[in-house]
Amino acid sequence: MNELLRRMLFLPGQGSSMAREIDYLHYSVILITLAGALGVSAAAAFFILRYRKGRKRRPELSPEGKAPEPRAPVYRVEVALGASILALFVVWWVVGYHQFVRLETPPPDSIEIYVSGKQWMWNVAYPNGRSSKGEVFVPVGRPVKLVLSSRDVIHSFFVPEFRVKKDVIPGRTTTLWFEALKPGRYPTFCAEYCGEGHSTMRATIVALSDAEYAEALEELPSVEIEGPVYREPEVAGIAPRKRLSLAEVGEMVAVEKGCIRCHTADGSPHIGPTWVGMYGARVNLVDGGQVTADVAYLTESMMDPRAKIHAGFEPVMPAYQGLLEAGQVGALLEYIRWLTANPPPMAAPLAPRDAPPIRLPVAGETTR
Ligand code: CUA
Repeated sequence: MNELLRRMLFLPGQGSSMAREIDYLHYSVILITLAGALGVSAAAAFFILRYRKGRKRRPELSPEGKAPEPRAPVYRVEVALGASILALFVVWWVVGYHQFVRLETPPPDSIEIYVSGKQWMWNVAYPNGRSSKGEVFVPVGRPVKLVLSSRDVIHSFFVPEFRVKKDVIPGRTTTLWFEALKPGRYPTFCAEYCGEGHSTMRATIVALSDAEYAEALEELPSVEIEGPVYREPEVAGIAPRKRLSLAEVGEMVAVEKGCIRCHTADGSPHIGPTWVGMYGARVNLVDGGQVTADVAYLTESMMDPRAKIHAGFEPVMPAYQGLLEAGQVGALLEYIRWLTANPPPMAAPLAPRDAPPIRLPVAGETTR
């Protein structure tokens, strides 16, 4: 039945753990509205035939020879019909809302992968510091959370076979999660018109078994630390080591992009707030409000630092919109998160580059 309806409605395969459930709601809406449309058509046909011109009906006469008194109309059928239609909509709404909440709530053990859209391609950064373009490698049977951001205009990340789609907005992050059911290649599309190359802005989700996933990630190149503005062949002291975690890449990006000139990694105050303890903290704003320093706020603060200014600091930070490559934002966020989870001893001097490095998680290790 599922397969028959799926084919009749020209839906793609059901590749994710949520796809079937979403389709069932879709089927029920289609079938019930189809039944309703047939019912209305049948009633119309009945009334057309029954009350067509030329057919005379005489009012029935009572024994006294008088026409019966017209009775006050009772709208039982109408009320019942209206109530059941309303009930149906409420049921659909409740089921749909439940599904929406599930789609918006990634399981806490999700693997986080950073995906950045730009005209007209998708770039990807993995927790082990590797990156890919146009292909998103994911393990089968495990929840994967994509942290989406855009370098230029609004895009939309759409995976038809997973029944998920999310707008990708410059200057902030959105998230999307799924769990692939079986290995395979799943096409993705940009679903928001973003310029001349919009229709070519495609990617593929490559779902692999755990072992193949680990193997595929090892073969990918590391997230770029330089660029897109400064592109020198060798930057003294920060040439990429091999097997960097995304947090380690983030530390290097912070050096390369000058973040650590204002934000310290040892908890001491400076021109900007320290990154130690920042991730997930409640931040007081100059306008008196408060905000949680989550991925969305931290990204917004990189791209548009004046949007929500941290109380106690001068709004002197330049905007980094367009100045951070794909993966670099993700790497910085992972680094800030790592610093919060592994705070260095307070008041430790900022480690010079040639000092033994603070131990960062190695490739494959979770940074939480
Ligand atoms: Cu990107 Cu359309």
